[in-house]
Amino acid sequence: MKKNSTAQNIEEIVNKALTELKSTKTLADLDKWRIQYLGRKGLVVQLKRSISDLPSAERPQFGQAVNSASTELETKLIDQQRKISSNDKNEPTESIDVTLPGVPTNNGSLHPITQTIRDICEAFTSMGFEIIEGPEVELDYYNFQMLNIPKHHPARDGFNTLWIDQEDSNGEKPMLLRTHTSPMQIRTMEKQDPPVRLVVPGKVYRYEATDASHEWHFSQIEGLAVDKGITFANLKGTLYEFARKLFGEDVRVRFRCDYFPFVEPGAEMSIDWNSRTNETGEENWIEILGAGMVHPKVLHAVGYDTDKYTGFAFGIGVERIAMLKHGIDDIRLFYNNDIRFLGQF
Ligand code: DAH
Repeated sequence: MKKNSTAQNIEEIVNKALTELKSTKTLADLDKWRIQYLGRKGLVVQLKRSISDLPSAERPQFGQAVNSASTELETKLIDQQRKISSNDKNEPTESIDVTLPGVPTNNGSLHPITQTIRDICEAFTSMGFEIIEGPEVELDYYNFQMLNIPKHHPARDGFNTLWIDQEDSNGEKPMLLRTHTSPMQIRTMEKQDPPVRLVVPGKVYRYEATDASHEWHFSQIEGLAVDKGITFANLKGTLYEFARKLFGEDVRVRFRCDYFPFVEPGAEMSIDWNSRTNETGEENWIEILGAGMVHPKVLHAVGYDTDKYTGFAFGIGVERIAMLKHGIDDIRLFYNNDIRFLGQF
Protein backbone atom coordinates (compact mmCIF):
# COMPACT_ATOMS: atom_id res chain seq x y z
CA MET A 1 0.00 0.00 0.00
CA LYS A 2 1.42 3.36 -1.01
CA LYS A 3 1.96 5.73 1.87
CA ASN A 4 0.27 8.64 0.13
CA SER A 5 -2.99 6.84 -0.65
CA THR A 6 -5.72 9.21 -1.54
CA ALA A 7 -9.49 9.11 -1.98
CA GLN A 8 -8.69 8.70 -5.70
CA ASN A 9 -6.78 5.46 -5.01
CA ILE A 10 -9.61 4.13 -2.91
CA GLU A 11 -12.09 4.61 -5.72
CA GLU A 12 -9.83 2.65 -8.06
CA ILE A 13 -9.49 -0.15 -5.56
CA VAL A 14 -13.25 -0.33 -5.05
CA ASN A 15 -13.89 -0.44 -8.80
CA LYS A 16 -11.40 -3.22 -9.29
CA ALA A 17 -12.85 -5.16 -6.37
CA LEU A 18 -16.39 -4.82 -7.70
CA THR A 19 -15.38 -6.02 -11.17
CA GLU A 20 -13.73 -9.06 -9.66
CA LEU A 21 -16.73 -9.66 -7.44
CA LYS A 22 -19.05 -9.77 -10.44
CA SER A 23 -16.98 -12.44 -12.09
CA THR A 24 -17.16 -14.83 -9.10
CA LYS A 25 -19.16 -17.94 -9.95
CA THR A 26 -19.08 -20.14 -6.88
CA LEU A 27 -19.22 -19.64 -3.15
CA ALA A 28 -15.58 -20.74 -3.05
CA ASP A 29 -14.62 -17.92 -5.48
CA LEU A 30 -16.58 -15.54 -3.31
CA ASP A 31 -14.74 -16.54 -0.16
CA LYS A 32 -11.37 -15.94 -1.83
CA TRP A 33 -12.56 -12.50 -2.83
CA ARG A 34 -13.79 -11.75 0.71
CA ILE A 35 -10.44 -12.71 2.21
CA GLN A 36 -8.56 -10.57 -0.31
CA TYR A 37 -10.58 -7.40 0.31
CA LEU A 38 -12.43 -7.72 3.60
CA GLY A 39 -10.35 -10.28 5.49
CA ARG A 40 -8.25 -9.59 8.57
CA LYS A 41 -5.22 -8.94 6.39
CA GLY A 42 -7.28 -7.68 3.46
CA LEU A 43 -6.94 -4.44 1.54
CA VAL A 44 -9.59 -2.56 3.49
CA VAL A 45 -7.82 -3.24 6.80
CA GLN A 46 -4.52 -2.19 5.24
CA LEU A 47 -6.08 1.06 4.06
CA LYS A 48 -7.45 1.72 7.54
CA ARG A 49 -4.02 1.15 9.04
CA SER A 50 -2.41 3.52 6.56
CA ILE A 51 -4.45 6.45 7.94
CA SER A 52 -1.85 7.05 10.64
CA ASP A 53 0.80 7.61 7.99
CA LEU A 54 -1.07 10.52 6.46
CA PRO A 55 -0.69 14.19 7.32
CA SER A 56 -3.39 14.96 9.89
CA ALA A 57 -5.22 17.34 7.55
CA GLU A 58 -5.92 14.54 5.11
CA ARG A 59 -6.97 11.92 7.67
CA PRO A 60 -10.72 12.70 8.12
CA GLN A 61 -11.51 12.71 4.41
CA PHE A 62 -9.43 9.57 3.80
CA GLY A 63 -11.00 7.82 6.81
CA GLN A 64 -14.49 8.54 5.57
CA ALA A 65 -13.65 7.26 2.08
CA VAL A 66 -12.25 4.02 3.51
CA ASN A 67 -15.34 3.46 5.67
CA SER A 68 -17.82 3.96 2.87
CA ALA A 69 -15.70 1.74 0.58
CA SER A 70 -15.78 -0.97 3.24
CA THR A 71 -19.58 -0.70 3.62
CA GLU A 72 -20.09 -0.81 -0.12
CA LEU A 73 -17.95 -3.90 -0.56
CA GLU A 74 -19.76 -5.67 2.27
CA THR A 75 -23.21 -4.94 0.84
CA LYS A 76 -22.21 -6.05 -2.65
CA LEU A 77 -20.66 -9.20 -1.19
CA ILE A 78 -24.01 -10.18 0.33
CA ASP A 79 -25.85 -9.48 -2.94
CA GLN A 80 -23.43 -11.64 -4.90
CA GLN A 81 -23.69 -14.41 -2.32
CA ARG A 82 -27.48 -14.55 -2.80
CA LYS A 83 -27.10 -14.60 -6.54
CA ILE A 84 -24.62 -17.48 -6.54
CA SER A 85 -26.60 -19.53 -4.00
CA SER A 86 -29.71 -19.46 -6.13
CA ASN A 87 -27.78 -20.35 -9.33
CA ASP A 88 -25.18 -22.80 -8.17
CA LYS A 89 -26.74 -26.21 -7.64
CA ASN A 90 -23.38 -27.74 -6.67
CA GLU A 91 -23.07 -25.62 -3.60
CA PRO A 92 -25.14 -26.35 -0.54
CA THR A 93 -28.07 -23.99 -0.43
CA GLU A 94 -29.90 -22.88 2.65
CA SER A 95 -32.41 -25.74 2.97
CA ILE A 96 -33.57 -29.11 1.61
CA ASP A 97 -37.26 -29.77 1.11
CA VAL A 98 -37.58 -33.39 2.23
CA THR A 99 -41.22 -33.54 1.11
CA LEU A 100 -40.29 -33.23 -2.59
CA PRO A 101 -40.69 -36.48 -4.58
CA GLY A 102 -37.42 -38.40 -5.11
CA VAL A 103 -35.56 -38.80 -8.39
CA PRO A 104 -36.85 -42.00 -10.01
CA THR A 105 -34.26 -44.67 -10.86
CA ASN A 106 -34.46 -46.57 -14.15
CA ASN A 107 -34.79 -50.27 -13.45
CA GLY A 108 -33.79 -52.73 -16.17
CA SER A 109 -35.98 -55.70 -17.04
CA LEU A 110 -35.58 -59.07 -18.72
CA HIS A 111 -35.77 -59.16 -22.51
CA PRO A 112 -39.20 -60.42 -23.64
CA ILE A 113 -37.54 -63.41 -25.34
CA THR A 114 -35.69 -64.30 -22.13
CA GLN A 115 -38.98 -64.07 -20.24
CA THR A 116 -40.72 -66.31 -22.77
CA ILE A 117 -37.89 -68.87 -22.68
CA ARG A 118 -38.21 -68.99 -18.89
CA ASP A 119 -42.01 -69.39 -19.06
CA ILE A 120 -41.74 -72.24 -21.57
CA CYS A 121 -38.94 -74.00 -19.69
CA GLU A 122 -40.88 -73.73 -16.45
CA ALA A 123 -43.90 -75.38 -18.06
CA PHE A 124 -41.69 -78.37 -18.93
CA THR A 125 -39.57 -78.53 -15.75
CA SER A 126 -42.84 -78.77 -13.82
CA MET A 127 -43.48 -81.96 -15.82
CA GLY A 128 -40.07 -83.42 -14.95
CA PHE A 129 -37.94 -82.20 -17.89
CA GLU A 130 -34.43 -80.92 -17.24
CA ILE A 131 -32.90 -77.89 -18.97
CA ILE A 132 -29.64 -78.26 -20.89
CA GLU A 133 -27.78 -76.02 -23.32
CA GLY A 134 -25.43 -76.67 -26.22
CA PRO A 135 -23.03 -75.03 -28.68
CA GLU A 136 -24.17 -72.53 -31.31
CA VAL A 137 -21.25 -73.45 -33.57
CA GLU A 138 -22.13 -77.02 -34.40
CA LEU A 139 -20.90 -79.89 -36.54
CA ASP A 140 -22.72 -80.97 -39.69
CA TYR A 141 -22.59 -84.40 -38.04
CA TYR A 142 -24.90 -83.38 -35.16
CA ASN A 143 -26.93 -80.71 -36.91
CA PHE A 144 -27.82 -82.96 -39.89
CA GLN A 145 -26.25 -86.39 -40.29
CA MET A 146 -27.16 -87.94 -36.94
CA LEU A 147 -30.67 -86.49 -37.29
CA ASN A 148 -31.26 -88.60 -40.37
CA ILE A 149 -30.42 -85.77 -42.78
CA PRO A 150 -27.45 -87.18 -44.73
CA LYS A 151 -25.42 -85.17 -47.23
CA HIS A 152 -27.49 -84.12 -50.27
CA HIS A 153 -30.79 -84.83 -48.48
CA PRO A 154 -33.37 -82.32 -49.82
CA ALA A 155 -34.38 -81.32 -46.26
CA ARG A 156 -31.04 -79.50 -45.99
CA ASP A 157 -32.23 -76.89 -48.47
CA GLY A 158 -34.98 -75.78 -46.10
CA PHE A 159 -32.48 -74.88 -43.39
CA ASN A 160 -30.58 -72.11 -45.28
CA THR A 161 -27.41 -72.93 -43.41
CA LEU A 162 -24.65 -70.47 -42.50
CA TRP A 163 -21.44 -72.46 -42.89
CA ILE A 164 -18.18 -71.82 -41.04
CA ASP A 165 -15.56 -71.00 -43.64
CA GLN A 166 -13.15 -73.85 -42.91
CA GLU A 167 -12.67 -76.97 -45.01
CA ASP A 168 -11.60 -80.46 -43.98
CA SER A 169 -9.22 -82.67 -45.99
CA ASN A 170 -12.08 -83.67 -48.36
CA GLY A 171 -12.73 -80.02 -49.20
CA GLU A 172 -15.98 -80.07 -47.22
CA LYS A 173 -17.14 -77.66 -44.55
CA PRO A 174 -17.78 -79.67 -41.38
CA MET A 175 -18.92 -76.76 -39.19
CA LEU A 176 -21.91 -74.46 -39.24
CA LEU A 177 -24.02 -72.17 -37.08
CA ARG A 178 -26.68 -74.54 -35.78
CA THR A 179 -29.91 -74.15 -37.73
CA HIS A 180 -32.00 -75.69 -34.92
CA THR A 181 -31.59 -76.89 -31.35
CA SER A 182 -32.25 -80.52 -32.36
CA PRO A 183 -28.51 -81.52 -32.40
CA MET A 184 -28.62 -81.50 -28.61
CA GLN A 185 -30.90 -84.55 -28.79
CA ILE A 186 -27.96 -86.46 -30.22
CA ARG A 187 -25.26 -84.96 -28.02
CA THR A 188 -27.28 -85.93 -24.93
CA MET A 189 -28.31 -89.43 -26.03
CA GLU A 190 -24.70 -90.21 -26.94
CA LYS A 191 -23.73 -89.61 -23.33
CA GLN A 192 -26.77 -90.77 -21.43
CA ASP A 193 -28.93 -93.89 -21.33
CA PRO A 194 -32.73 -93.63 -21.11
CA PRO A 195 -34.80 -92.35 -19.46
CA VAL A 196 -34.16 -88.94 -21.06
CA ARG A 197 -36.38 -85.92 -20.52
CA LEU A 198 -34.90 -82.60 -21.55
CA VAL A 199 -35.58 -79.17 -22.98
CA VAL A 200 -32.89 -77.18 -24.81
CA PRO A 201 -33.35 -73.43 -25.11
CA GLY A 202 -30.96 -71.55 -27.38
CA LYS A 203 -30.20 -69.40 -30.39
CA VAL A 204 -30.25 -70.72 -33.93
CA TYR A 205 -29.19 -69.20 -37.24
CA ARG A 206 -30.47 -69.21 -40.82
CA TYR A 207 -29.18 -67.49 -43.95
CA GLU A 208 -32.42 -65.64 -44.66
CA ALA A 209 -33.58 -62.18 -45.62
CA THR A 210 -35.23 -60.45 -42.67
CA ASP A 211 -38.83 -59.26 -42.75
CA ALA A 212 -41.67 -58.92 -40.26
CA SER A 213 -41.75 -62.67 -39.64
CA HIS A 214 -38.14 -63.74 -40.39
CA GLU A 215 -34.87 -63.06 -38.62
CA TRP A 216 -31.48 -64.53 -39.54
CA HIS A 217 -31.11 -65.53 -35.88
CA PHE A 218 -33.86 -66.53 -33.49
CA SER A 219 -34.54 -68.81 -30.53
CA GLN A 220 -35.87 -72.33 -30.24
CA ILE A 221 -36.64 -74.75 -27.47
CA GLU A 222 -36.03 -78.37 -28.30
CA GLY A 223 -37.66 -81.13 -26.30
CA LEU A 224 -36.93 -84.84 -26.03
CA ALA A 225 -38.37 -87.68 -23.99
CA VAL A 226 -37.12 -91.25 -24.43
CA ASP A 227 -38.10 -94.15 -22.21
CA LYS A 228 -39.78 -97.54 -22.24
CA GLY A 229 -43.31 -97.45 -23.59
CA ILE A 230 -43.52 -93.80 -24.69
CA THR A 231 -46.34 -93.32 -27.20
CA PHE A 232 -47.88 -90.61 -29.32
CA ALA A 233 -50.45 -90.17 -26.54
CA ASN A 234 -47.62 -89.03 -24.24
CA LEU A 235 -46.53 -86.54 -26.89
CA LYS A 236 -50.03 -85.12 -27.23
CA GLY A 237 -50.68 -85.01 -23.50
CA THR A 238 -47.38 -83.28 -22.71
CA LEU A 239 -47.70 -80.66 -25.44
CA TYR A 240 -51.35 -79.99 -24.63
CA GLU A 241 -50.43 -79.44 -20.99
CA PHE A 242 -47.65 -77.05 -22.10
CA ALA A 243 -50.16 -75.06 -24.19
CA ARG A 244 -52.57 -74.84 -21.26
CA LYS A 245 -49.84 -73.67 -18.90
CA LEU A 246 -48.72 -70.97 -21.32
CA PHE A 247 -51.96 -69.80 -22.88
CA GLY A 248 -54.62 -70.72 -20.31
CA GLU A 249 -56.85 -73.64 -19.40
CA ASP A 250 -59.34 -73.05 -22.20
CA VAL A 251 -56.88 -73.17 -25.08
CA ARG A 252 -57.67 -75.66 -27.87
CA VAL A 253 -54.88 -77.47 -29.68
CA ARG A 254 -54.79 -79.31 -33.00
CA PHE A 255 -52.25 -81.84 -34.33
CA ARG A 256 -51.73 -82.34 -38.05
CA CYS A 257 -49.28 -84.43 -40.03
CA ASP A 258 -45.98 -82.82 -40.91
CA TYR A 259 -42.62 -84.08 -42.09
CA PHE A 260 -39.28 -83.84 -40.31
CA PRO A 261 -36.59 -86.39 -41.19
CA PHE A 262 -35.75 -87.18 -37.54
CA VAL A 263 -39.29 -88.16 -36.47
CA GLU A 264 -41.84 -90.67 -37.68
CA PRO A 265 -44.70 -89.92 -37.59
CA GLY A 266 -44.17 -86.15 -37.60
CA ALA A 267 -46.72 -83.52 -36.63
CA GLU A 268 -47.26 -79.85 -36.12
CA MET A 269 -49.27 -78.46 -33.24
CA SER A 270 -51.45 -75.38 -33.63
CA ILE A 271 -53.46 -73.52 -31.07
CA ASP A 272 -56.81 -71.85 -31.65
CA TRP A 273 -55.93 -68.31 -30.64
CA ASN A 274 -59.59 -67.36 -30.31
CA SER A 275 -60.36 -70.21 -27.91
CA ARG A 276 -58.58 -68.40 -25.07
CA THR A 277 -61.09 -65.59 -25.00
CA ASN A 278 -64.13 -67.39 -26.42
CA GLU A 279 -65.38 -64.03 -27.59
CA THR A 280 -65.92 -64.91 -31.22
CA GLY A 281 -67.22 -68.23 -32.43
CA GLU A 282 -64.53 -68.24 -35.13
CA GLU A 283 -61.41 -70.38 -35.01
CA ASN A 284 -57.94 -68.94 -35.55
CA TRP A 285 -55.40 -71.78 -35.80
CA ILE A 286 -51.77 -70.76 -35.41
CA GLU A 287 -48.91 -73.26 -35.69
CA ILE A 288 -46.54 -73.04 -32.72
CA LEU A 289 -44.32 -76.12 -32.90
CA GLY A 290 -43.12 -79.19 -34.79
CA ALA A 291 -43.01 -82.60 -33.11
CA GLY A 292 -43.06 -86.34 -33.63
CA MET A 293 -42.00 -89.77 -32.44
CA VAL A 294 -38.20 -90.01 -32.57
CA HIS A 295 -37.22 -91.86 -35.75
CA PRO A 296 -35.87 -95.37 -35.01
CA LYS A 297 -32.85 -94.52 -37.20
CA VAL A 298 -31.98 -91.68 -34.81
CA LEU A 299 -32.30 -93.90 -31.72
CA HIS A 300 -30.32 -96.60 -33.45
CA ALA A 301 -27.54 -94.17 -34.43
CA VAL A 302 -26.89 -93.28 -30.78
CA GLY A 303 -26.90 -96.94 -29.77
CA TYR A 304 -30.32 -97.11 -28.09
CA ASP A 305 -32.17 -100.42 -28.26
CA THR A 306 -35.16 -99.61 -30.47
CA ASP A 307 -37.01 -102.72 -29.32
CA LYS A 308 -36.96 -101.39 -25.78
CA TYR A 309 -37.16 -97.63 -26.15
CA THR A 310 -39.33 -95.11 -27.92
CA GLY A 311 -39.52 -91.37 -27.56
CA PHE A 312 -41.01 -88.12 -28.75
CA ALA A 313 -39.35 -84.83 -29.67
CA PHE A 314 -40.54 -81.32 -30.36
CA GLY A 315 -39.18 -77.95 -31.41
CA ILE A 316 -40.78 -74.65 -30.38
CA GLY A 317 -40.13 -71.26 -32.00
CA VAL A 318 -39.77 -68.83 -29.09
CA GLU A 319 -40.27 -65.56 -31.00
CA ARG A 320 -43.53 -66.87 -32.46
CA ILE A 321 -44.87 -67.55 -28.94
CA ALA A 322 -43.69 -64.19 -27.58
CA MET A 323 -45.29 -62.39 -30.55
CA LEU A 324 -48.58 -64.16 -29.94
CA LYS A 325 -48.57 -63.56 -26.19
CA HIS A 326 -47.79 -59.85 -26.46
CA GLY A 327 -49.52 -59.02 -29.75
CA ILE A 328 -46.24 -58.09 -31.50
CA ASP A 329 -46.47 -58.02 -35.29
CA ASP A 330 -42.81 -57.64 -36.29
CA ILE A 331 -40.06 -60.05 -35.15
CA ARG A 332 -37.37 -57.42 -35.84
CA LEU A 333 -38.58 -55.38 -32.87
CA PHE A 334 -36.99 -57.92 -30.52
CA TYR A 335 -33.51 -57.25 -31.81
CA ASN A 336 -33.13 -53.57 -32.64
CA ASN A 337 -32.62 -52.60 -29.01
CA ASP A 338 -35.17 -49.82 -28.91
CA ILE A 339 -35.68 -48.99 -25.27
CA ARG A 340 -39.22 -47.72 -25.98
CA PHE A 341 -40.10 -51.27 -27.05
CA LEU A 342 -38.06 -53.19 -24.47
CA GLY A 343 -39.25 -50.97 -21.61
CA GLN A 344 -42.78 -52.30 -22.04
CA PHE A 345 -41.97 -55.77 -20.69
N1 DAH B 1 -35.81 -78.70 -35.71
C1 DAH B 1 -37.05 -78.36 -36.40
C2 DAH B 1 -36.88 -77.02 -37.13
O1 DAH B 1 -36.04 -76.25 -36.76
C3 DAH B 1 -38.18 -78.27 -35.42
C4 DAH B 1 -38.58 -79.60 -34.91
C5 DAH B 1 -39.57 -80.31 -35.54
C6 DAH B 1 -37.95 -80.17 -33.82
C7 DAH B 1 -39.97 -81.57 -35.11
C8 DAH B 1 -38.30 -81.44 -33.38
C9 DAH B 1 -39.34 -82.12 -34.03
O2 DAH B 1 -37.73 -82.02 -32.33
O3 DAH B 1 -39.72 -83.34 -33.57
O4 DAH B 1 -37.57 -76.78 -38.05
